[in-house]
Amino acid sequence: MALIEVKNVQTVFGSKVVHNGLNLHINEGEIYGLLGPSGCGKTTLLREMVMLQEFHGGSIEVLGKKIESISERDAQELRQRWGVLFQFGALFSSLTIAENIALPLKEYTKLSKDMIETIVKFKIKLVGLQYSDAHLYPSEISGGMKKKAGLARALAMDPKLLFLDEPTSGLDPISAREFDRLILQLRDMLGLTIVMVSHDLQSIYDTLDRVAIIDNKKIAYEGTLDEVTSVKSDFIQTFFKEHA
Ligand SMILES: Nc1ncnc2c1ncn2[C@@H]1O[C@H](COP(=O)(O)OP(=O)(O)OP(=O)(O)O)[C@@H](O)[C@H]1O
Ligand SMILES: [Mg+2]
Repeated sequence: MALIEVKNVQTVFGSKVVHNGLNLHINEGEIYGLLGPSGCGKTTLLREMVMLQEFHGGSIEVLGKKIESISERDAQELRQRWGVLFQFGALFSSLTIAENIALPLKEYTKLSKDMIETIVKFKIKLVGLQYSDAHLYPSEISGGMKKKAGLARALAMDPKLLFLDEPTSGLDPISAREFDRLILQLRDMLGLTIVMVSHDLQSIYDTLDRVAIIDNKKIAYEGTLDEVTSVKSDFIQTFFKEHA
């Protein structure tokens, strides 16, 4: 079953066309990669899927709702069913790890303080952080810990869908592989569907079930990684050369 269906999407910034007729579909339970050269519109597409960015033609359906024509009520409900880890961290620097993770629970639910604390504790453990570090501020923790804290916050509301933008960028190889294993475990354990932007080749091969490659404003390839090298695209040939 497709949880996300993108049909003929057009995106324009001023006179710059970023997407010109994008089509893709993301199935329930898969880890799906959005790949392509820098500036091709991966983050923009992700932001469109989570209703943070308008698009100018076509249709995006997420969890059965067409977001170009969604009601405010449905939009509010939908926002609680996904989690997002953005490309550039986006933890609030004035809040501790625990306060960051508690934020969506405070915003969207009427749960008691005790209940929220219990959930925050659980999410911190889930991503492999220590609860003894929960009182630290983002400036007091490492890059890898920030990614995990961001992930814990994205998982706060028990989402069905998880969006990750370059989750391993800026991490050393060991932390990056650890993050990959965590993603795989969480998908299996929590039954998540994950949409991930990445240019980390190891991570792409270790975690993704299927990919979409954006090139020249369109999808140059959608499918498994097995056949990707047979596709005629300079980006694909260069990017995947060492693994061909
Ligand atoms: N709000 C905006 N206003 C104007 N132009 C924008 C805006 N957001 C994105 N763009 C442009 O759209 C294009 C795609 O940007 P986007 O951030 O989606 O690329 P990307 O594929 O995520 O790149 P990277 O791999 O470097 O993160 C870029 O040319 C960018 O300058
Ligand atoms: Mg980006």
